[in-house]
Amino acid sequence: MVALQKGNSTASPKQLTDKVIAVIGYGSQGRAVAQNLCDSGYSVIIGLRAGSKSRARVQKDGFAPILSIPAAVRKAKIVCFAFPDHLHSRVFKRSIKPFLKCQTTLWFLHASSIHFGLVKPPKGCDVILVAPHAPGDAVREIYLTDRSLSAFYGVFRNHSKQAGYTARQLAAALGVKRQNLIKTTFEREAVGDLFGEQAVLCGGLAMLIKHGFDTLVDHGWKPENAYLEVAYQLDLIVALIKKHGISGMFARISPAARLGSVEAGPKIIDQSVRERMEEQFERIRSGAFAAKFELLDDQALASLKRALRKLTDSRFEKAARKFSR
Ligand SMILES: NC(=O)c1ccc[n+]([C@@H]2O[C@H](COP(=O)([O-])OP(=O)(O)OC[C@H]3O[C@@H](n4cnc5c(N)ncnc54)[C@H](OP(=O)(O)O)[C@@H]3O)[C@@H](O)[C@H]2O)c1
Repeated sequence: MVALQKGNSTASPKQLTDKVIAVIGYGSQGRAVAQNLCDSGYSVIIGLRAGSKSRARVQKDGFAPILSIPAAVRKAKIVCFAFPDHLHSRVFKRSIKPFLKCQTTLWFLHASSIHFGLVKPPKGCDVILVAPHAPGDAVREIYLTDRSLSAFYGVFRNHSKQAGYTARQLAAALGVKRQNLIKTTFEREAVGDLFGEQAVLCGGLAMLIKHGFDTLVDHGWKPENAYLEVAYQLDLIVALIKKHGISGMFARISPAARLGSVEAGPKIIDQSVRERMEEQFERIRSGAFAAKFELLDDQALASLKRALRKLTDSRFEKAARKFSR
């Protein structure tokens, strides 16, 4: 792959470019991470499981040869865990740990596996976190523009006394400018990330939208009109919140919307919601949730798929597709 000179690269990869980075997995994050690092001048190899579906894509993107996970780990000084968290423990024990060179840096994109003790790194390794605040497509897209990605970074083990530096360099190579790189701990990132996605960003938001949609449809609204009322403008409202805060968003909507927000918001999302958030926070913090997700196997994933289907409505999905153009 050719090193790109593009607007956003704040990486100054002087001291790390000689270290081979093995990206294990080539999915959402793996592909973006590998491409950004490569375009920032790093030496990247990809490790894939036997029979991987991603082989063709890796080859097309110019990463060759394609290696097995053990072979990639053997060559690397930095190993990036770019495959699903519930598999970290199993893959680490079988295909990573036995092949690690000493003083390898283990790089996590999310802190759960380390914080909840699912992966137990051997002595002599640095263990770092650089966790982008974006899905992989956006990690790549933002890199190719002048915008900056934001990310958390942290150090769990600093054997080399250089772990923080390594994390900051890798973050820069991904396209994170210094002001958008936030230092944290593995505990804060693991618990905060899981809580945010469960309570608000994914789980909470999906149910809020669903209940709003169902209410209008039950009262005779055509599904696509209900979709337009409860979901279509979400990105615009979120953009206002991100730019001006919640008060700034309120200042920019109509007086009727402001009055309705004051009247309905605290009634619908009331103290009982806050109490259930506390319960879920405790479930995450205690490790009970991590213990469950570590057990996800093919059967559990199939039943998860069925359960997710119950949270969605085909009429909503159809409307979303119609207006996505
Ligand atoms: N997705 C996000 O928005 C996001 C954001 C920030 C951080 N993260 C973190 O980034 C990490 C990777 O997440 P992701 O969403 O990028 O994962 P993902 O897209 O689900 O990862 C897919 C990759 O993992 C490989 N894989 C699946 N099962 C495997 C196994 N048993 N052994 C080895 N490889 C296997 C897949 O293999 P095939 O090639 O065979 O399909 C594929 O290459 C996680 O720690 C996650 O928490 C994700």
